[in-house]
This record gives sequence, C-alpha cells and structure tokens, in this order.
Amino acid sequence: MTVSEAVLSRRSVRQFLDKPVDLDVIRSILDKARWAPSGCNFQPWEASVLTGEPLRALQEKMLASEYQDPKEYDWSAPEAIPECLAAVQTVGATLYSSMGVSRDDTAAREEFVRTNSRSFHAPVVLLCYMPRLMKEPQWSDVGMWLQTIMLLAREAGLDTCPQEYLSLHARVIKDYLGVSDETHIFFCGLAIGYGDRKSPVNQWERERFPLDHKVKFLGF
Ligand SMILES: Cc1cc2nc3c(=O)[nH]c(=O)nc-3n(C[C@H](O)[C@H](O)[C@H](O)COP(=O)(O)O)c2cc1C
Repeated sequence: MTVSEAVLSRRSVRQFLDKPVDLDVIRSILDKARWAPSGCNFQPWEASVLTGEPLRALQEKMLASEYQDPKEYDWSAPEAIPECLAAVQTVGATLYSSMGVSRDDTAAREEFVRTNSRSFHAPVVLLCYMPRLMKEPQWSDVGMWLQTIMLLAREAGLDTCPQEYLSLHARVIKDYLGVSDETHIFFCGLAIGYGDRKSPVNQWERERFPLDHKVKFLGF
C-alpha cells in the first residue's frame, strides 16, 4: 500500500468485524509511530491500549457513569465558526441517514452516540493522554502521532476511529488506568479493528473543502 492509498482509504469506521487483532500487529504499528515528528522532539503522547476483558470492564464503567462536569476540555467551541457548525451538521445528517435514522428520532441518535462508549465494538482501543504541562504545539504533535498510527493501521489492513467522545469519561478512564488526573489530561480514544467496510455506516460520502479554499499558493 502506498502512502496515498493509506491516506485516501482511511476513514472513520464506526462498525467493526468481530475479529481480534494480534498484539504483534498493534506493537509493530506503535513501534513505527514513534518516528512521528514533534516540536523539539518532546514526543508528548502517552497511551494505554486495551482489548478483551480489561476493555469490556472499562466500557461498563463508562456506560454506568454520567458525563463528567466540567468537561476534560471543550471540543464544541469551534461551532461558533459558521463553517464548523455547518460541517458538524452535515456529518450528523449523513451519518444518521446512512443508518436509516431520521432527524427527529432522538432515541436512536442517542443510542448510537452511546455506542461511542463501546468504541463501535472495535476489538482494540487506544486511550491517549499527555502531561497537563504540555501546551498547544504538543496537542498538534499528539495529532500527528495519532494520524501516523491511523495510516500504519491501514497498511496492516486495519481501520480506526478517533474518539473525542471518550473525553466525556476522562476521569473514569484515568482512574481505571491508574493515570493521575492531576498530572495528565486525557485527549481521545482510537478504536482499532478490522472494519466492516460493507456496512452503510462506513460507506457514506464525506465532504472536504476544495483545496484552494484552504491553501494559498504564491510564487509558482
Ligand atoms: C481528534 C478526533 C476526534 C474525533 N472524535 C470522534 C468521536 O468521538 N466520535 C466519532 O464518531 N467520530 C469522531 N471523530 C471522527 C470525525 O468525525 C471524522 O474524522 C470527520 O468527520 C472526517 O471523517 P473521516 O475521518 O471519515 O474522514 C474524531 C476525529 C478526530 C480527528
């Protein structure tokens, strides 16, 4: 698989096959992802990777918990930018209509949102956090690390879904993992597994802004 194929075939997968992933495969991906870049080579990312019973036990704890208040961090803020609000509405509309869930079927929508807690039944979940002392540039470094993992996962025939949603249970997660809430901020989960690519929820058409809407070219 070329890098282009990995980039273009990656999508957020929200239904996985009931097929385990070998530890060797996960370790190999994460071993290579260590070579992701980071400002001053801080490598600010930290994570725990769970499967099987430890994962199920954590998911039960999350499902039995209220969303934490205050939130770990605010991921709704950019909705104040009209473009972001439109994007979030489009994702919601196309995602739910792919599953035949109507706009006003609040119960079915809430039910699907809760499947985030089960990471869409992915067999493996990576939980990513970093020291609270890290600043804005290090959040970007963690993002690069996660994208490196997602692309290497494609090369290994795997699919992924990054999950900010899990930050709604950040303290439950950190408590379970023995990670200090005082020293560490939780960022997101990453569902990992063999995607059910035939499922409609994994097939709807995603949108992107045209290149020239976002990037200027000068001097060519
Ligand atoms: C950091 C991050 C967090 C995300 N959190 C969630 C999430 O909690 N639940 C979810 O279903 N999708 C989540 N997504 C997936 C985005 O909705 C998705 O990347 C976006 O709609 C573009 O679609 P694509 O990934 O299929 O190209 C997240 C993506 C990123 C990068």
